[in-house]
Amino acid sequence: MAASLASTLCGIPVSNLFGLASAPRTQTYDQLRRARNAGFGFAECKTIPDQPTPDLSSRYAFSPDEKTMENIEVVYAGDPDGFLRDISVVTAEDESWVVGMSLMARYDQDIWRRHVEKCVWGTGVTGIDPKRGTGVKFIAVNVSCPHGLKNRGMGKAMGLVPEIVADVVRWTQEVVGNMPILVKLTPNGDLDLIVEVARTACKLGAHITAANTMNGVVEFDHSVFPPPPHARGAVPYQWAGGIQDHDRRYIWRSGTLSQRRDLR
Ligand SMILES: Cc1cc2nc3c(=O)[nH]c(=O)nc-3n(C[C@H](O)[C@H](O)[C@H](O)COP(=O)(O)O)c2cc1C
Repeated sequence: MAASLASTLCGIPVSNLFGLASAPRTQTYDQLRRARNAGFGFAECKTIPDQPTPDLSSRYAFSPDEKTMENIEVVYAGDPDGFLRDISVVTAEDESWVVGMSLMARYDQDIWRRHVEKCVWGTGVTGIDPKRGTGVKFIAVNVSCPHGLKNRGMGKAMGLVPEIVADVVRWTQEVVGNMPILVKLTPNGDLDLIVEVARTACKLGAHITAANTMNGVVEFDHSVFPPPPHARGAVPYQWAGGIQDHDRRYIWRSGTLSQRRDLR
């Protein structure tokens, strides 16, 4: 029998489980098409917010050994309607390929539901057939971004409160029916609390995904001032941002282990 990497992701058939997480590599038509052509089993688009967001600069900084990266990139900062059209085109080109919609919105039932309708069914977006929508096959609820938009009560500000996560999962389900929902967890905060958030999401029939970046500041580069990332136009000092890669994994693994024990 020929070997196969085919599997399922939240019950959706995928050619393999190697996929692209929501990040700068999943925010254009070309990037998504290239990911599909390169053989990735799925991609989750860059998180689309319900309101315009700043496009920061500089966004990234690295630890001296370059094993760890810090970013203060917010969420999708371009024209959301154009991006949604791009997603609808790439999903129509190969209906078997899996694209997930990553979104975030303010904690308000009406705003949240309208945003999900727009991102999934293309409601109000010119050029998207409402019968087909954007063609995404799952929704990733971003309640975990540790920096951008927590001032608006979004991202990790939501993911640290189980009751809020329960509400947004329900509101999403009201709009998308049986389409799988992935709650993207935050490793920030007490990892025991995250187990509770995971349990809440699973009880409602959602799936969980681990995990977004962790708050931190990589080492200063004293040869550059202000040391990046520093958000041009704002206070010119280095900002705490989301830590990714190597160092985050040690901590997050402990969260994943606890969840596995708890949800077994
Ligand atoms: C520059 C950058 C931008 C990101 N943007 C998003 C985003 O818009 N939405 C989201 O859910 N996660 C975002 N993430 C988090 C990633 O999807 C991923 O969860 C994180 O990098 C941890 O995985 P890793 O350690 O394998 O990189 C971003 C990460 C980076 C480094």
